[in-house]
Amino acid sequence: MKKIIITRRLLKESEEKALKTFDAKLNGNDELYSQSKLIELSEGYDAILTSLTDKMDEETINKLPSSVKVISNFAVGFGNIDLEAAKKRGIAVTNTPEVLSDATAEIGILLILGACRRVPEGTQSAKESNWKWSADFLIGKQLTGSRLGILGMGRIGQKIAKIAKALGMIIHYHNRSKLSEEKEQGAIYHDSIKGLFEVSDVLSICCPATKETENLINKETLEYFPTGAVITNVARGDIVDDEALIDALNRRKIYATGLDVYKGEPNLNPGYLKTKSAFILPHLGSSTKHTRTAMANLAIDNIDEFLKTGNCKNKVN
Ligand code: GLV
Repeated sequence: MKKIIITRRLLKESEEKALKTFDAKLNGNDELYSQSKLIELSEGYDAILTSLTDKMDEETINKLPSSVKVISNFAVGFGNIDLEAAKKRGIAVTNTPEVLSDATAEIGILLILGACRRVPEGTQSAKESNWKWSADFLIGKQLTGSRLGILGMGRIGQKIAKIAKALGMIIHYHNRSKLSEEKEQGAIYHDSIKGLFEVSDVLSICCPATKETENLINKETLEYFPTGAVITNVARGDIVDDEALIDALNRRKIYATGLDVYKGEPNLNPGYLKTKSAFILPHLGSSTKHTRTAMANLAIDNIDEFLKTGNCKNKVN
């Protein structure tokens, strides 16, 4: 039986599947392994099932024992893994696309609603029971008729577009390439981020974190938006320059933000905590039982496929 190490706890059903498929080492206490501990624990294992909390940088990958043939990430994003370093060592890296698109798009829509309709302030007022209804109490931004810009029109972006369209939003997008008409579903393509941002009353960031997208939302690009735009991020914190966004919120260039992901999470920039127009969630994108089970099962199947055939449909390097 092939040996795999799973760095974080999975839901019970998925751990049972792993134990049936492999000689699997589980992490009963859900301890966050340091890089050196993970290197040490991997000795003699064929595969590592990682989570986005595991930083598999070049140094860590170079020190992995030669027994390791595949790193299977329990996430669609793989910014936590140095793909090139893995490739150089002949280690395959896989991810879990598709199965989490619906759940993540739901959170993407929640971020838009929460930011536009002033949920943080509303929740606080309701809890404090000190609010008085009036015609202008917590006036928010209506989605119906607003323009939604989608940055990264992959599966999650397309699903957000579909729901937002049903809410009456007009969809614009920027992507590396223009989609087919069937996939576009009437969305308007912009071949530059400037073009997209200029027409975005609300932005939904859905693109992967790469060297090209790092700090794409910054002091300069924030000025492209109409004054009073809303920026939401369901993808990765690395795409946003936090100081620039917080500054834009404070000067009301940006009306509100909705965030599920952060640079250096779980330690988000304290500026967001002081800004009442920041609707913040703790990286809940894929967090439903159905989705987390499907993701873990796929991560296990990816290892199985790779170890049996030497390839895998979800290999990303
Ligand atoms: C979640 O953030 C993922 O990338 O799967």
